[in-house]
Amino acid sequence: MLSFFKKKKVIVEEEVKVVQQTDYTNVQPIAEYFKNETGVTFDNQISILTNKVMTFCRQREISSFVKLLKMVDEDAVIKQELIDYLTTNETFFYREFRQIAELVELVKECGHSVDILCAPSATGEEPYSIAIALLEAGVLPNKINIVGIDINLEALEKAREATYKERNVRNLTDEVKVKYFDKKGDLYALKNSVKSHVTFRLENLFDPSFVNIGKFDFIFSRNMFIYFDAPTKIKAKNILDSMRKDSGQEIFFGHADQL
Ligand SMILES: C[S@@+](CC[C@H](N)C(=O)[O-])C[C@H]1O[C@@H](n2cnc3c(N)ncnc32)[C@H](O)[C@@H]1O
Repeated sequence: MLSFFKKKKVIVEEEVKVVQQTDYTNVQPIAEYFKNETGVTFDNQISILTNKVMTFCRQREISSFVKLLKMVDEDAVIKQELIDYLTTNETFFYREFRQIAELVELVKECGHSVDILCAPSATGEEPYSIAIALLEAGVLPNKINIVGIDINLEALEKAREATYKERNVRNLTDEVKVKYFDKKGDLYALKNSVKSHVTFRLENLFDPSFVNIGKFDFIFSRNMFIYFDAPTKIKAKNILDSMRKDSGQEIFFGHADQL
């Protein structure tokens, strides 16, 4: 009996030792690393970032922020997991539809086939919305070529799967839902007639190789600049500007992006 209590005491002491060995203080170096890599700033949200990164570490039994920083520097998988965890992918079909309607008019006017970039595309609702709106306007399917890029791999996997919940399609009419989606239980699976117009790529806007993906007639970059500070917004805008086929063509930014 005595030996049982002794053993229990040792286990409890070891557990205390493990708890004491964790060090989740000073998230600043992670914030700086993340901003350098992705452009996304947590400058005014350091306590939110601390809690998020602490949860990320605990889920993976990483005992300190210092260890995590070393790991993300050396291991591309954990780096991608951290990027997926810390980027915000909220989006939905026909978001800020007025700009999509404006794009449709421009495409109809230009007559030729168009290359459109959605940077970022998150889980796909925006590039697919553009494809649906163009098809609805009678633009010939062989004239529509859309590239969606994002730094978040999990989001891109969802985009490629293209199966959405009711709240993601809430802005679509019943007619559009029936025409372009197959209903599977509570979910809406996008048909190939729309999916086939969009290619998704895992890309970081700030990676020097990003600009090599091509030049585009129209560029959408909505609700990403909100996560960047002022100098980063300028850098990002210059990158996107350099990817336009026609330097007179304005880029479509989100209303909250504030250049
Ligand atoms: C809120 S979503 C915007 C989606 C869509 N454009 C919209 O307006 O609904 C923001 C996306 O920006 C992506 N992002 C952030 N930094 C990025 C970077 N450096 N390169 C590419 N994508 C990035 C995030 O992963 C996230 O999916």
